Amino acid sequence: MYDVDLNRIDTSGEAPEFEPERQFYYMAKCRDILQERARRTGRAQTACVTTFGCQMNARDSEKLLGILKAIGYEETEEEEADFVLYNTCTVRENANLRVYGRLGHLNAIKKKRKDMIIALCGCMMQEPTVVEKLKRSFTFVDLIFGTHNIFRLAELLYRCFTGEDMVVELWKDTTQIVEELPVERKYPFKSGVNIMFGCNNFCTYCIVPYVRGRERSRKPEDIIAEIERLVADGVVEVMLLGQNVNSYGRGLEEEITFAELLRRIEKIEGLKRIRFMTSHPKDLSDDLIQVMKESKKICRHLHLPLQSGSTRLLKKMNRHYTKEQYLDLAMKLKREIPDLSLTTDIIVGFPGETEEDFEETMDVVRKVRYDSAFTFIYSRRTGTPAADWEQVPEEVIHPRFDRLLAEVQKIAGEVCCKDLGTVQEALVESMDDHDPSMVTGRLSNNIMVHFPGDASMIGQIFSVKLTEAHGFYYLGEKAG
Ligand code: SAH
Ligand code: SF4
Ligand code: F3S
Repeated sequence: MYDVDLNRIDTSGEAPEFEPERQFYYMAKCRDILQERARRTGRAQTACVTTFGCQMNARDSEKLLGILKAIGYEETEEEEADFVLYNTCTVRENANLRVYGRLGHLNAIKKKRKDMIIALCGCMMQEPTVVEKLKRSFTFVDLIFGTHNIFRLAELLYRCFTGEDMVVELWKDTTQIVEELPVERKYPFKSGVNIMFGCNNFCTYCIVPYVRGRERSRKPEDIIAEIERLVADGVVEVMLLGQNVNSYGRGLEEEITFAELLRRIEKIEGLKRIRFMTSHPKDLSDDLIQVMKESKKICRHLHLPLQSGSTRLLKKMNRHYTKEQYLDLAMKLKREIPDLSLTTDIIVGFPGETEEDFEETMDVVRKVRYDSAFTFIYSRRTGTPAADWEQVPEEVIHPRFDRLLAEVQKIAGEVCCKDLGTVQEALVESMDDHDPSMVTGRLSNNIMVHFPGDASMIGQIFSVKLTEAHGFYYLGEKAG
């Protein structure tokens, strides 16, 4: 991603004003300090980064880890590290509770290691009430930053190193997109690629637009250049990331749609697979369906969040589609791309949800027959409009949730077997967890297949005959 030699950066003068040069300056400064600490303690300094959220959050963690490694930290999965960073999520209340729970545990570790630095970043930090609570009751935290300034990690860390107590830097929003910083990928053969940041949709239940700021798209040439570099570095599959990829391009100087961006990415030589997430049904164009249909690289999987099947609730959710429009779109997709796997997100217990509303959701589930669905119990998020509306009692929500889950699982079990006996391409991602003579691969439609193989196959695509269906995965054997 970056090819700056930190040894050649002059750190004797003032920090440069512009990015990314400013951060390279601070990376070099931090690296000197870390080398000194390593000499003093007689061991390499370690860093542990934990992701709590979605794929965007995971991609941010790779960027954060990229900076940490560039300055000389060794990555570890142990929380007994010199630097521990939680990249938080706040989309539902239980994401927050997990963070508070684990912070107590970190405090106990820190009592034994006083040089340890504890840092928090991500979506939860963009909520002022959270930061107030941390400042009041979690004073052992050394560094807090948000979603808009992750590229400034080296500079913020330098402030921690030089003695500042609890460094807190939060930006309300940004228009800045800083390119060219180091990234440490989790997988050598596949990678997420941000194509846009933020969200402008303000679904009334959702906190993401408040914590991720306004929607902004990256320039197509920057995206293409990043993917070309990734491919040169061994990546065969990319996942294009955005809260609403179908509105890609709005606000850019060059007029470009998501479908057009896909056409350009398709042309990148050496790239084998393209995925994207998430598609908002309201902006999914016929042109996109056309591109998917024609494409040899775009995977046969579309995540199309429904949220609710009730037109009345969809209106209150500010989703901008009706039950019928959603069904028409899903059926059109299935008709045009018959091997497409459709998945979704559904919320149960949105304020005001009646038995009739819920039955509408069940009806859509039965009609679309999703390959899988993430089902969520509505979580009240402070600051969102729906938080102030009359809530559905828990004892009403839980039985509905169970009914929905049972239906979703029953259908998924039936749908997922449909390719049994065929030969499909699988990208081998890892060794099988349970059987050392098997590898685990991902099919174009996002379903996993386990088949005989060895570690040398990881990162490559093989033709696999699907010999046994097990509900949510297949067993297979290499074909040809
Ligand atoms: N941008 C994506 C979704 C991002 S959040 C989209 O619009 O589809 C991922 C999922 O979390 C959402 O699809 C929604 O189903 C769920 N979600 C968001 N806010 C929620 C809340 N307050 N309670 C329960 N689930 C929620
Ligand atoms: Fe949240 Fe809606 Fe934006 Fe998705 S599109 S992130 S659900 S506000
Ligand atoms: Fe969570 Fe933030 Fe993603 S709130 S779901 S980590 S955008």
